[in-house]
Amino acid sequence: MSDLRAFSSIREFILWRDSLDVAVGFVPTMGALHSGHSELIKRSAAENKVSVVSIFVNPTQFNSQEDLQKYPRTLENDLDMAKTSGASAVLLPTFDEIYPDKYRYKLSESEFSKELCGAERAGHFDGVLTVVMKLLQIVQPQKAYFGEKDFQQLQLISDMVRAFFVRTEIVACSTVREADGLAMSSRNVRLSSAGRELAPVLFRSLGAKTLAEARSALLSAGIEPEYLEEHYGRRFIAAFIDGVRLIDNVKL
Ligand code: PAF
Repeated sequence: MSDLRAFSSIREFILWRDSLDVAVGFVPTMGALHSGHSELIKRSAAENKVSVVSIFVNPTQFNSQEDLQKYPRTLENDLDMAKTSGASAVLLPTFDEIYPDKYRYKLSESEFSKELCGAERAGHFDGVLTVVMKLLQIVQPQKAYFGEKDFQQLQLISDMVRAFFVRTEIVACSTVREADGLAMSSRNVRLSSAGRELAPVLFRSLGAKTLAEARSALLSAGIEPEYLEEHYGRRFIAAFIDGVRLIDNVKL
C-alpha cells in the first residue's frame, strides 16, 4: 500500500494534482468515516489510478450551530480508513481556504432542493452544491462517488454537474447498512444504546406495503417522522432519534 499524502493547503494540492496525468477518482466527505465511506473509496480505488478523499465539515450546509458543533470529528481514524481503503491523497482544507469569498458566491437549485431535506433545512442544499462545486474545481476528478443514502443530494449534484457542463462523472453507490438494516451514517455514533436499538425501525418502515403502514409502524415505535414521502419511485424518511437527525430511502 502506497503512502497517503495529506494536503491542508489547496495551492499545494493543486500543484500535485496538476503533476498527474492519470485518472483521478474523488470521494468528498465530512470525515467521521465509516464502512459506507470505505466502500466509496474502495470503488474509486478500483476504477481510478489515483483516489482523493476530502475531509471538510462544511459549515454552510448546517442549519444549526449545535448540529455543526456536535458533528463527530475523528481525524486519526479517518486517515487510517482512507489509507486502508486505497486513497492516495487526503485534502483537509480550512474554511478560509474553501471560502475565500466568505460565501458571497453560492449555487442554488430552485425545485427539488426545496423538498424533503430542503423543506425543513433552508439553505442546506445551497451549502452542499456550492462546496461540492468548489471541491470538483479543485480536484478535477474524472469520477466522483456519492452514496445513495443521501439520494436527494446525489440527484441534485448529478443534475448540477450536467447543468454546468462539469467534466466529472457522478457515480452512485448503494447504501451500506448495519446487519439490522440501519443505514451507515456518521451521525449514528451519537445515538444512545436505546436509540441505536430503535433506529432500524426507520429502514423497516421503508419496507412497509403502504405509506400509511409505514407511518403507523413509526408511530407505534414512538417516532414522528419529519417526512415520510414517495418521489421518483423511491420512499424517503427523515426522523429524529435521541435528537439525532437520521435519513434513509429505498427504491420501491
Ligand atoms: O455527504 C456529505 O458528507 C456532504 O454533504 C458532502 C457531499 C461531503 C459535501 O459537504
